[in-house]
Amino acid sequence: MLANNQEHSTSTAHAMGDTARGMLRVLALGDVCGEAGVKTITRAMPILRESYKPDLVVVNIENIGDGGRGVTRESFQAVQDIGIDVFSTGNHIWDFETDLSLFEEDERLLRPINYANKLPGKGSHIVTTSKGIRVGVINVQGLHHMASIGNPFDAIEQELIRMKDDVDLVVVDCHAELAEEKAALAFAFDGKISALWGTHTHIPTADERILPQGTGLLSDLGICGGVDGVIGFDGATSLDHAITHLPRRNEIVKKGRLVASGALFSIDITTARCVAIDPVALDVSFRSVS
Ligand SMILES: [Fe+2]
Ligand SMILES: [Fe+2]
Repeated sequence: MLANNQEHSTSTAHAMGDTARGMLRVLALGDVCGEAGVKTITRAMPILRESYKPDLVVVNIENIGDGGRGVTRESFQAVQDIGIDVFSTGNHIWDFETDLSLFEEDERLLRPINYANKLPGKGSHIVTTSKGIRVGVINVQGLHHMASIGNPFDAIEQELIRMKDDVDLVVVDCHAELAEEKAALAFAFDGKISALWGTHTHIPTADERILPQGTGLLSDLGICGGVDGVIGFDGATSLDHAITHLPRRNEIVKKGRLVASGALFSIDITTARCVAIDPVALDVSFRSVS
C-alpha cells in the first residue's frame, strides 16, 4: 500500500547564507554513522555552511544512533541546532534503538515514503527557504536487496501529484543498494524533480550528472563518519563476520579519518533545473568541535 494518504509537513529553513538570487543551493550529506558520525557532522556543519552557504540542508541520519543503529533521542538532539533543515533516513530507522516518538515531535524527521502507511512518520516534508522557495523533500527507498515494501516509482509519482500545488521544486533522497535502481528512478522523473541523490551504501560515487530534462543525479552521497573501517564500522569486527558468517554486533570505527561526504546541488529557481553538482568531502579529523 502506498503512502498516498499521508499529510506532508512544512517548516521554514534556517535563514542563513547569502546566495545569489535565482539559484537554490541544496546541500545533501550521506548517512551519519554512529558516534564517529555525530562527531563528524557536528564539526563539519559550521564549516560547510560557511563555505557553501546552502539554502537547504538535507542529511541522512538512519545510522546516527550509537553503534550505527537507528535514531536515538540523544543522537537526534545532538544534531538539532547545527543547521540541518530535513533529516532523511532509510531501512535502519526501524532498528530497535530508534525512538519512534520522535516522529510525532519533529516533522523534519522523515522515513521512506513507500513503507506501510500504518508505520509512524512521514516520507516527505516541505521547506520554505529564506528566499521564499517551497522545496518538497521526498525520502524513498529502493527494493533491490532491501525490504519488499511499496513500489518507489508509484510512491514518488503519487507524492508529486499530491504536492504539486504546494511546492516550487522537489528533491529526492533515494535510499537504495543499487546505483541502477537510483538512476532508473531519476530518469523516470527527469524534469519533474530537480535532484535525486542516493544514500545507504556509505560509499560516495563519482557519477554526478544532469539528465536531459534537468534532474541532477548522484548515485550515492557516501558517509558522514569514520572512513578507515568498513562502511563506518570497525574493520576487524566486519572482517570476522565476513569470514565466519557468525552474527557479530557491529562496532563503530574508533580510529582514523572523519569525513563528511555529500554534494551541493545548484538549482535554477526559475526553471527548477539542476545546473551544477559539486561533490563534498570534508575531512574534519583534526578540527576541534568549538
Ligand atoms: Fe546507512
Ligand atoms: Fe540503509
